[in-house]
Amino acid sequence: MKLKIAVLPGDGIGPEVTKQAVKVLKAIQELYKHNFEFEEAFVGAIAIDRTGKPLPDETLQLCATSDAVLFGAIGDPKYDNNPDAKVRPEQGLLQLRKELGLFANIRPIKAYDSLIDKSPLKRDIIEGTDMLIYRELTGGIYYGEKKLSEDGTVASDLCEYSQMEIERITHLAFKSAQTRRNKVTLVDKANVLESSRLWRRVVTEIAKGYPQVTLDFLFVDNAVMQLILNPSQFDVVLSENMFGDIISDEGSVIVSSIGLLASASVGNEKALFEPIHGSYPQAKGKNIANPVAAILSAAMLLDHFGLNTEADAIRKAVELTLEYNIVTQDLNVVRNFGTDYVGDTIANSILNNDDTNSY
Ligand code: IPM
Ligand code: MN
Repeated sequence: MKLKIAVLPGDGIGPEVTKQAVKVLKAIQELYKHNFEFEEAFVGAIAIDRTGKPLPDETLQLCATSDAVLFGAIGDPKYDNNPDAKVRPEQGLLQLRKELGLFANIRPIKAYDSLIDKSPLKRDIIEGTDMLIYRELTGGIYYGEKKLSEDGTVASDLCEYSQMEIERITHLAFKSAQTRRNKVTLVDKANVLESSRLWRRVVTEIAKGYPQVTLDFLFVDNAVMQLILNPSQFDVVLSENMFGDIISDEGSVIVSSIGLLASASVGNEKALFEPIHGSYPQAKGKNIANPVAAILSAAMLLDHFGLNTEADAIRKAVELTLEYNIVTQDLNVVRNFGTDYVGDTIANSILNNDDTNSY
């Protein structure tokens, strides 16, 4: 298959981990005889430094004319503690999601057997966890009107949703549940928020079209508790933008490191694949960041184009390196390996295409 992939490494550890994902995609390309074309562009703080804009026009143009986007991470501490900054790296990602119409962000949270004892949670709580978070990505409080009073003492962010915005992601979530354990849990705050009550009405109506799927509801405060008390109860978790952002970081505790969690952001036409972690500026350039989230995001990219055998080959190679403890320091403080080494091991394992190769 011929695919043009826009590569946006971004800031912090983004370039290091994205490099490993590209390396792994090149191994797949070689083994399965595909034709992947990679082209890089700037986004985030590095793009602001170079062009003044977090999403330069050439970057958007490249993404719009590519089949898929592989995204690293964005963010820089110089903006985090500067509330007066007019342009921020994060705006680049938010604008990109909006421009490409990426309304659904899918985040798998599945416990790996070999890592269960590394989580601060108990083994019997984690066992059997396998959920998909469907996070709405182009609406809600992230995109609502922002206001700051003239004297700078009052601020607001509007959380707004339309029926259409809720419907389109809800259909995706239910279709996905049909291929899994037939359960959707809507996470909201419908006891307080009007926007959440609209979510409940719309989702309840759509659920009637999927009679084999059970729908249940959780208020977000209860949901974050349930997520670490009994994570295996969840199959597909559906949520608006900000709640979805928050619960997915919490989900990383179940798999033991946020450095393992991948995501796919999809719309009607375009798709972008990115680790859920941030730019981890403290680790930048140290070759210690976990590349697995970026590599698994590349696997989700392949799945998106129906290359499931190839995606499975990546996941199998990742599982092997985890089993053999070829991991970065977030997973093993005593004996660990560099970002590059982990990436090489996964790529080589794919190329050798067997599980008997010795490490
Ligand atoms: C994520 C990130 C982003 C978000 C930030 C960097 C804007 O936290 O992808 O989860 O909040 O969506
Ligand atoms: Mn986040």
